Amino acid sequence: MPRFITVEGIEGAGKTSCLDLLEQRIRQRGHEVLVTREPGGTPLGEDLRQLLLGHRHDGMADDTELLLMFAARAEHLHAKIEPALVAGSWVLCDRFTDATYAYQGYGRGIDLQRIAALETWVQGERRPDLTLLLDLPVEVGLQRAGRRSTPDRFERQALTFFDRVRQGYLSLAASAPGRFRVIDAGQSLDQVSRQVTATIDAFLDSADPG
Ligand SMILES: Nc1ncnc2c1ncn2[C@@H]1O[C@H](COP(=O)(O)OP(=O)(O)OP(=O)(O)O)[C@@H](O)[C@H]1O
Ligand SMILES: [Mg+2]
Repeated sequence: MPRFITVEGIEGAGKTSCLDLLEQRIRQRGHEVLVTREPGGTPLGEDLRQLLLGHRHDGMADDTELLLMFAARAEHLHAKIEPALVAGSWVLCDRFTDATYAYQGYGRGIDLQRIAALETWVQGERRPDLTLLLDLPVEVGLQRAGRRSTPDRFERQALTFFDRVRQGYLSLAASAPGRFRVIDAGQSLDQVSRQVTATIDAFLDSADPG
């Protein structure tokens, strides 16, 4: 049975680097893998991503941001994720609904119950089978991300915002320990890669023993 795997963490945590490694390990076991990201993943979703991350709409209402995230997600599930899973491909996604809880919920302060209602509406029963949370101190992540281009609409937020996001992610992980694996992403790339490899190998062993 194909699996749906998500990677989460604040900016600069190493999600994109981790995704490459996960893709390799899963392919080595002979599985097809679709690698995608949120917000985005479809032409409409990528347009919404630009609206969400760009600066044309600085100051958009928190609810607008939340609904656009779920609009992009509805399209992503409909046009890409569900068809891939049905076709037997594993799906690896750079951020998913946990990011909405962490950023729009814990970060912006939107009631988590409202997010849960949208989650059920848009996703039905669909949830990731495995989520890797790359956890690290906020300053380290932002410093890593800062080596790239200009800050997006989220990267311009204050440190306290990202602290709430980080703690939110850790709360989500604590409340769903069966699905989450927390990776200490503050370590060297080598050490993080070792943790990620061990985690995905164990998951692959349990997913298709023998
Ligand atoms: N463990 C690590 N130690 C040092 N540098 C790292 C480590 N992991 C990733 N990096 C570097 O930090 C930067 C950010 O990594 P990456 O792009 O994978 O993070 P990300 O979580 O995808 O960020 P974003 O949320 O902004 O997309 C990259 O330049 C990457 O090479
Ligand atoms: Mg990235």
